[in-house]
Amino acid sequence: MNNIIEIKNLQKHYDQGNIIALSGVDLQIEKGEFVSIVGPSGSGKSTLLNMIGALDQADEGSIKVAGNDLMENKDFSQFRSTEIGFIFQLHNLIPNLTVSENVQIPMIQTDMSDEEMVKRANEILESLNLGSKIHQFPTKLSGGERQRVAIARALVNHPSIILADEPTGALDSKTGDIILDVLKNIHREENVTLIIVTHEKYVADQADRTIKVKDGCITAM
Ligand SMILES: Nc1ncnc2c1ncn2[C@@H]1O[C@H](COP(=O)(O)OP(=O)(O)OP(=O)(O)O)[C@@H](O)[C@H]1O
Ligand SMILES: [Mg+2]
Repeated sequence: MNNIIEIKNLQKHYDQGNIIALSGVDLQIEKGEFVSIVGPSGSGKSTLLNMIGALDQADEGSIKVAGNDLMENKDFSQFRSTEIGFIFQLHNLIPNLTVSENVQIPMIQTDMSDEEMVKRANEILESLNLGSKIHQFPTKLSGGERQRVAIARALVNHPSIILADEPTGALDSKTGDIILDVLKNIHREENVTLIIVTHEKYVADQADRTIKVKDGCITAM
């Protein structure tokens, strides 16, 4: 067994326990798997992704990701920058930084030189057909281009896990297809574990496995 993610009875409450976002999730994901997560709005999908990426901590249960116990009381910024690539629905690019500078952000925490950071950022942007946009600002780009910059930023440190929260949700279907193809290629070529939250059935169906979340529980795998 080669699970990169092991979650047992994971619980997450908000608002002093009035909101139960996750109510006992059990989940194992193997290294290199492509998994989609579906479920109604408010069912806990983003919460689950945030727990896996150590953006937030659970209240109860256990969660181990790439050999790290995420219930420990410590700073997980090193874990995040080396193991995790996040792609958010609204891509969260910083408007007053250029495309290349946005992609360099995750490398600031590494010991790379400025020169190496620029080289790596521009290489990955070129591989995503954004070589002509490296000096452009995000506000001047199309939605699909912005999402590709967000993918470049997620990939720049060679993460072992990519967490994508509705990466195609804000795009038209043709642009969404291009983004999905980019992610599928990365999954295939780099053996990275890919987890995509989506509302779209055709996106979910392309994964090796679909996980259904309802009321903070996993109802089907
Ligand atoms: N920071 C927070 N504070 C309080 N409640 C929160 C917080 N984040 C999420 N919730 C609540 O937790 C529940 C799960 O939210 P979550 O964002 O995980 O849902 P989701 O499945 O991602 O929904 P969507 O498909 O709309 O993105 C919801 O009831 C939501 O209102
Ligand atoms: Mg969500």
